[in-house]
Amino acid sequence: MTAISIDHVSRSFGTVRAVDDVSLEVRDGEFFTLLGPSGCGKTTLLRTIAGFADLTAGQIRFGERRIDTLPPHRRNTGMVFQNYAIFPNLTVDGNVAYGLKARSVPEAQIKERVARALKLVHLDGYGERWPHQLSGGQLQRVAIARCLVIEPEVLLLDEPLSNLDAKLRVEMRAEIRQLQQSLKITAIYVTHDQEEALSMSDRIAVMRSGRLEQVAAPQDIYRAPATPFVAEFMGTTNLLTGTVTGRDGDITRIGVGQREFRAPSRASNGESLTFSLRPETVRLLAPGEAAPAGWATLHATLARVEFLGALTRLELDLGGGTTLRVASLDVLPGALATRGCVVAAYDPRRVTVFGGR
Ligand SMILES: Nc1ncnc2c1ncn2[C@@H]1O[C@H](COP(=O)(O)OP(=O)(O)O)[C@@H](O)[C@H]1O
Ligand SMILES: [Mg+2]
Repeated sequence: MTAISIDHVSRSFGTVRAVDDVSLEVRDGEFFTLLGPSGCGKTTLLRTIAGFADLTAGQIRFGERRIDTLPPHRRNTGMVFQNYAIFPNLTVDGNVAYGLKARSVPEAQIKERVARALKLVHLDGYGERWPHQLSGGQLQRVAIARCLVIEPEVLLLDEPLSNLDAKLRVEMRAEIRQLQQSLKITAIYVTHDQEEALSMSDRIAVMRSGRLEQVAAPQDIYRAPATPFVAEFMGTTNLLTGTVTGRDGDITRIGVGQREFRAPSRASNGESLTFSLRPETVRLLAPGEAAPAGWATLHATLARVEFLGALTRLELDLGGGTTLRVASLDVLPGALATRGCVVAAYDPRRVTVFGGR
């Protein structure tokens, strides 16, 4: 097991700062995910750890050992790519054995280690097959086995599931996570898929334009986003800006258009605040139903209903050009609306306020 210390690392391509002064500690045995939109520098940061990209500035350590000055083959990392990078002219056995042959491991040992690696990824018995005889999911398992067979200290995965269909992607998430847990290997996983990151990771670093926007556990990233960018990138949200109009204890009243919201903040009257309210934390009240104690209410007009099976998405018109998105698992808006009028309720403590004090 190995902790990874990334210390003020930068990597530029000409004038593009692909990775811009990133510092990060990945813990021993942690499943750590780099998440962000395309072009934010995830692959470049992963490649600096593997040794496929040089640093413009900074240092990287595995435990106490500085590794950014070592060539890739001496860093003891295994890397899995989006496009599998399987050799088409070698059998499954041949592909998995490749790294061991390159390291001059004795033939008898190779056989045993290849068999063990294939078993780990549930491909025992597939050794004689050729790559063109395998499905996408099986090819990606071969790629993972080829990595694991050299017993790397650190596993690096760059969007390994992006080429798989949706159902297989969900299955492979759990499989990769289980494998990582059973081997207790430190893993850095790159993805642009929020759900993938939330479901697999011990911690997530959200990246934007080469920098870290927030590093935290999945629940904290989702429920307490540090910036408006993180709030919007991690699923759907209502990002609203208004002016403080008063307070009740530690709950601030914020005027937005023709309505007043409530949120925890210490900002003073007249200050401008931006805040995030997740659609699924808002509930529509039945006619005559009282809101739970401490909740805030908003009168609105039902503007749009989108039925998505398990989930129904609603858009409420709050007047003055303000729209509020609501998501509900089980709602019959018709029964809640009187001539299109509804009452929405939310717990002010579920609102995240940015800036202010
Ligand atoms: N070899 C390269 N030469 C020039 N620019 C590059 C190279 N690799 C990456 N970049 C640029 O660096 C930025 C980050 O790219 P990348 O790390 O691939 O992002 P991500 O993996 O998050 O999509 C992008 O602007 C990209 O165009
Ligand atoms: Mg990439």
